[in-house]
Amino acid sequence: MTVIGKGGHCRALGLDPKEAITSDRWEPTAQPVIVAIGDNAARKVVVEMVEADGGRVAPWVVPIPSMEYSRGIHMGVGVTVVHGAVVGKHVILNTGCIVEHGCSIGDYAHIGPGAVLCGTVTVGEGALVGANATVLPGLTIGAWAVVGAGAVVTKDVPAGETWVGNPAAPQAKWLRARMFAPFDENGDPA
Ligand SMILES: CC(C)(COP(=O)(O)OP(=O)(O)OC[C@H]1O[C@@H](n2cnc3c(N)ncnc32)[C@H](O)[C@@H]1OP(=O)(O)O)[C@@H](O)C(=O)NCCC(=O)NCCS
Repeated sequence: MTVIGKGGHCRALGLDPKEAITSDRWEPTAQPVIVAIGDNAARKVVVEMVEADGGRVAPWVVPIPSMEYSRGIHMGVGVTVVHGAVVGKHVILNTGCIVEHGCSIGDYAHIGPGAVLCGTVTVGEGALVGANATVLPGLTIGAWAVVGAGAVVTKDVPAGETWVGNPAAPQAKWLRARMFAPFDENGDPA
């Protein structure tokens, strides 16, 4: 087993950083690879690098009946995933989060510790739902959006935006920074 990523997420997975490598030390191997990188965008880049080199990413999930799951999921202690959920590849389901019935979570997304996705929530690729946030039923969190810790999301969050608070609204700092954000006028990643 090769572990790429020596930081906090490596430790959170119970892996020993001393036995891990950084991505610049990666060499193709027949061994299964765990990409233990918490940053969603960095995890995507490294997974794609490993797969382009013919590397085999380790399946990292215990199958749950009636849940559809992909490769490379990191599932923390006390996670609850209810029937009908679809979880994309290299998703982090962090400690104690709850993914209710019929939710769909895109590749490279991160559901933070204690966060609750009520039923039929859709989370786009690379989105972060912060610790203890709640997303009300049927809503969509767009690709690479960020929901701040503790937020209560009552409306769809557009791709690439950062929303905080209760009820959640666009973060003032994010609004100020928007002109520099790597997203086009539709909010899609550029
Ligand atoms: C929302 C978030 C991404 C903003 O990070 P940031 O851009 O570095 O923001 P800053 O810390 O510079 O704060 C900017 C402003 O937003 C406010 N803010 C930050 N996070 C907030 C939150 N979760 N809820 C409400 N307000 C928040 C700050 O108080 C500050 O307000 P001010 O401008 O009036 O002083 C971050 O605070 C957050 O909640 N991340 C989620 C972390 C998490 O749960 N990870 C899960 C894995 S451990």
